[in-house]
Amino acid sequence: MKNTFYFKDTELPDESKLFSLFLTTGWNESYKLEKSEMFTAVKNSWYYVSACDKEKLIGFGRILCDGIVHALILDLIVHPDYQNQGIGKTILNKLVDKCRQHRIRDIQLYSVKGKDGFYRKMGFKERPEGEPGMEIKLFQ
Ligand SMILES: CC(C)(COP(=O)(O)OP(=O)(O)OC[C@H]1O[C@@H](n2cnc3c(N)ncnc32)[C@H](O)[C@@H]1OP(=O)(O)O)[C@@H](O)C(=O)NCCC(=O)NCCS
Repeated sequence: MKNTFYFKDTELPDESKLFSLFLTTGWNESYKLEKSEMFTAVKNSWYYVSACDKEKLIGFGRILCDGIVHALILDLIVHPDYQNQGIGKTILNKLVDKCRQHRIRDIQLYSVKGKDGFYRKMGFKERPEGEPGMEIKLFQ
């Protein structure tokens, strides 16, 4: 049977559906976000893409961006029941296309363990040795 997936980027996903999708990753065990906090963070994004199967939210990705130079891809998530069907690739391509349209000079992201191969296939490269991305975690 032909799948009925579709993608949209003109409206925010439903808050509860988005939070349920977010919870499938396990990331909230460290972030400890309330549903409303997660939704506010998403609302403050520069661009976002949702993947749907009929009424179900099955994938999502978003970008923070300064509009000119740098973009950061965040929260790229495909529901575990829908992974390995090209949905993550489609969302990522849409995020990258949006940056290309705006001539954003570079796109950054942090890969979780085991997903670096996915991003490498999509053209992303690790930073040069000795020039790592760095972070400090607050309020853990
Ligand atoms: C990472 C994730 C978004 C990938 O989405 P997906 O829909 O399952 O991936 P796709 O089916 O679009 O895969 C696209 C290509 O990448 C490959 N790929 C997928 N996961 C991979 C992995 N972990 N390592 C290497 N290659 C991978 C696929 O085989 C496919 O290759 P092809 O184009 O040659 O056929 C998805 O696994 C996910 O949501 N995981 C949980 C949340 C997460 O970890 N997000 C990433 C945060 S950094």
